[in-house]
Amino acid sequence: MQVADLPRVVEVEQRIYAFPWTEGNFRDAILSGYDGAVLEFGGVLVGYRVMMFGPGEAHLLNLSIAGDWQRRGFGRRLLLASIHDARRVAAATMFLEVRPSNAAGIALYEATGFRRIGVRKGYYPDEGGREDAWVMSLPL
Ligand SMILES: CC(C)(COP(=O)(O)OP(=O)(O)OC[C@H]1O[C@@H](n2cnc3c(N)ncnc32)[C@H](O)[C@@H]1OP(=O)(O)O)[C@@H](O)C(=O)NCCC(=O)NCCS
Repeated sequence: MQVADLPRVVEVEQRIYAFPWTEGNFRDAILSGYDGAVLEFGGVLVGYRVMMFGPGEAHLLNLSIAGDWQRRGFGRRLLLASIHDARRVAAATMFLEVRPSNAAGIALYEATGFRRIGVRKGYYPDEGGREDAWVMSLPL
């Protein structure tokens, strides 16, 4: 993911999330050295991910597939590529947060081997309040 990708990334982000990352959030992530990647199919941006590496661990901060391209295996493919990239930098564990209401995300993560290891109370903004996050991890 490059800064030049951000208009396309943000267009997808705004369509698929009620509380999307802003262009500034993505820009800060890239400029901070986080590992961003876009997935293109026939020149069309179908998805993207942002991952942060720390000592011995990888933290998946954003994994998204454009609405028109969901349920075609792209999310799994991007997640498996992210796991591969995390292994290449010798991370031992991969972490992520997901909304408990996000059945599609949880199904994908569980099918890939992630397990719930904790809950962050009120982590996400939500209509009229906050929603918890499930913290999930995968040993690499
Ligand atoms: C969650 C998301 C990344 C999944 O990507 P996708 O390309 O649609 O998913 P895939 O086609 O690769 O599906 C892989 C597996 O995920 C699960 N899954 C995906 N969509 C699902 C849905 N709507 N309901 C239930 N399970 C679903 C299934 O286990 C599926 O395997 P199967 O097709 O063999 O049943 C995508 O729906 C998305 O970007 N959603 C909006 C953003 C989001 O919620 N991101 C995750 C935030 S933590």
